Amino acid sequence: MTTSSSERGVSLGMPELPAPAYPDDVRARLEADAREIIARYPDSRSALLPLLHLVQSEEGHVTRTGMQFCADVLKLTTAEVTAVATFYTMYRRRPSGDYQVGVCTNTLCAVMGGDAIFEQLQEHLGIGNGETTDDGKITLEHIECNAACDFAPVVMVNWEFFDNQTVQSAKRLVDDLRIGHTVSPTRGAPLCTFKETARILAGFPDERDGAVEASGSAGPASLVGLRLARGETAPARVVHPRDGGPHDEPQDRAVHEPSSAQHLSSHDAPQDTSASDPAHPAGPTAEEGE
Ligand code: FES
Repeated sequence: MTTSSSERGVSLGMPELPAPAYPDDVRARLEADAREIIARYPDSRSALLPLLHLVQSEEGHVTRTGMQFCADVLKLTTAEVTAVATFYTMYRRRPSGDYQVGVCTNTLCAVMGGDAIFEQLQEHLGIGNGETTDDGKITLEHIECNAACDFAPVVMVNWEFFDNQTVQSAKRLVDDLRIGHTVSPTRGAPLCTFKETARILAGFPDERDGAVEASGSAGPASLVGLRLARGETAPARVVHPRDGGPHDEPQDRAVHEPSSAQHLSSHDAPQDTSASDPAHPAGPTAEEGE
């Protein structure tokens, strides 16, 4: 006699399983989506992460029913699925809001204002860490570093970045989300709900007009460290001869045409490397090239 994965879950000491079933029409729709996802991988087990996003897109969090579904279609045990779903913080385990607002309170963001933003948002929204507003719109949480430290303090909503936040801008952000205004992150397309985001993360296209074109990069600031590490000079802020105002040097010229105005201190990347690199011969200064 074969043993179903739900029965195996019970035998492994998880009395909450088996889970309630999806309605037939929902299960049929999810199975069609799951087949499409699984077909992308040589080993079906590799599809578990996107499948967890798929079931998360159905109910807004990864339910027992969702985990059971993943186990069934991938022929895994519920224990295996649960281990993955509980390891990654992108999978929510309980009902939450349409917008997951995460305030980075790691060291740099914290000292740059992240702690104050988180504290003030808790008061403004009347909820604590991990809690959801009564209207079901906002779930607030503090989050760890998301590698956007050069834009600290950072707030993330449904995994999209909002750079250089203040208490005021963060309050305005959550207010706009609650009243249904269109809100755009610092980079990328306007926000969609958590469920819609989860479906995109499952690997299905973002069908909204202009969404793909709206995708952007972090911009030159995040590349400075990389360029310094490669022995190139960093973009410098110089006084433009035309108007005397401060400007960021165009990135290419700042890298390929180091000038005396861009001289770095002895604590910066080695100048010799850049000057002796045949790929980057010393050229006219930025001012000479005008
Ligand atoms: S400390 Fe906040 S993004 Fe790194």
